[in-house]
Amino acid sequence: METLHQLIIADGAQMSAIEDRCIDLVVTSPPYPMIEMWDDLFCRADAQIGPAFERSDTDQAFERMHGQLDKVWLEVRRVVKPGAIVCINIGDATRTVGGRFRLFANHARVISAFMALGFDQLPTIIWRKTTNAPNKFMGSGMLPPCAYVTLEHEYVLIFRLGANRSFETEEQKQSRRESAYFWEERNIWFSDVWLNLIGTSQRLHDGAARDRSAAYPFELPYRLINMFSIKGDTVLDPFLGTGTTMLAAMCAGRHCLGYEIEPEMQSVILEKVAGLPEIAEETIERRLKAHADFAKERGRQENEIKNHNLFYEVPVITRQEAVLRLERVRQLQFIGNDRFRVIYERGADAVETPAAPPAQGHDRPRGCPVSKGRQLKLF
Ligand SMILES: C[S@@+](CC[C@H](N)C(=O)[O-])C[C@H]1O[C@@H](n2cnc3c(N)ncnc32)[C@H](O)[C@@H]1O
Repeated sequence: METLHQLIIADGAQMSAIEDRCIDLVVTSPPYPMIEMWDDLFCRADAQIGPAFERSDTDQAFERMHGQLDKVWLEVRRVVKPGAIVCINIGDATRTVGGRFRLFANHARVISAFMALGFDQLPTIIWRKTTNAPNKFMGSGMLPPCAYVTLEHEYVLIFRLGANRSFETEEQKQSRRESAYFWEERNIWFSDVWLNLIGTSQRLHDGAARDRSAAYPFELPYRLINMFSIKGDTVLDPFLGTGTTMLAAMCAGRHCLGYEIEPEMQSVILEKVAGLPEIAEETIERRLKAHADFAKERGRQENEIKNHNLFYEVPVITRQEAVLRLERVRQLQFIGNDRFRVIYERGADAVETPAAPPAQGHDRPRGCPVSKGRQLKLF
């Protein structure tokens, strides 16, 4: 098994390298409107934004910044397959302009944009960040009524284009079964509040495009990719940044395409991707150990767990976990500075995938048939 990955240094508002309807999942985090670190980028893209700030016309500045993101969302709409899921990590902003302090509800504006494009919104995840204590005293400190509630969370907005995907061929069905996650992982991943995601370094090396990386924690795209796609799917990140989504896709056995507008980010992305072998191994070991601990504890409480995973020889709660397998990375190949091939090892658990257990209950494909779309040509 292998996956292919391509970095494209270009504007996500013009993803001309991608044909219509060939992306299975989008996981991304755009620059957040009204957060100062992104002012330059937005002002370069739209010459009306600077003057809007000078007039303290924050409504105009906010709307025009979102106008830039809307162009990317329109391209996302074009390239996704019917039934594809789009996950957008975004935070709101607070800002004082012209002496007026306000909240700018970025998440609400992005929801409106996706509804207008015909997506259905699915339940949202609130991701609680670790925060800096001084923010807690924004405003009038201990004296009512002029202190402000601090923003300690961000959103993962989730949208789907049309009805649920269906899995027609035996190969797709088998890939889906092997892409299962553990029962106890599901209980955490599908909660609408995510806590304690281990943060990621915000420092970028000298000469990088900006001081801070604005990267999300690896765990965030890794969970979303496992939750909303199957092995062999193609994931798109139109705002790739440091490449976290690509790294997570590599670890999860999905193909990935990433757009990034700042050429200086390429070296940062290459550096991040080069860390794949270690992070992939760590991730698999962490998941398997967490499951073994869970199974041991559960076995003690319940006396028995009836189902077994065939690759890892561990008890599992449901039959859907029977052929769950995590792909170990054998090799990462760089093909130039913008394309990568990941070769996976099935040797560590060298068992042919056995015939799958029969589908149960909600595991059965539902909804309208998926249009096949055109194939994405990565190489
Ligand atoms: C919030 S950061 C993404 C961080 C990323 N999730 C990570 O973990 O590193 C947004 C990124 O989008 C890039 N960007 C902004 N506008 C863009 C556009 N129109 N097309 C492509 N990339 C863009 C910025 O340069 C920045 O690197």
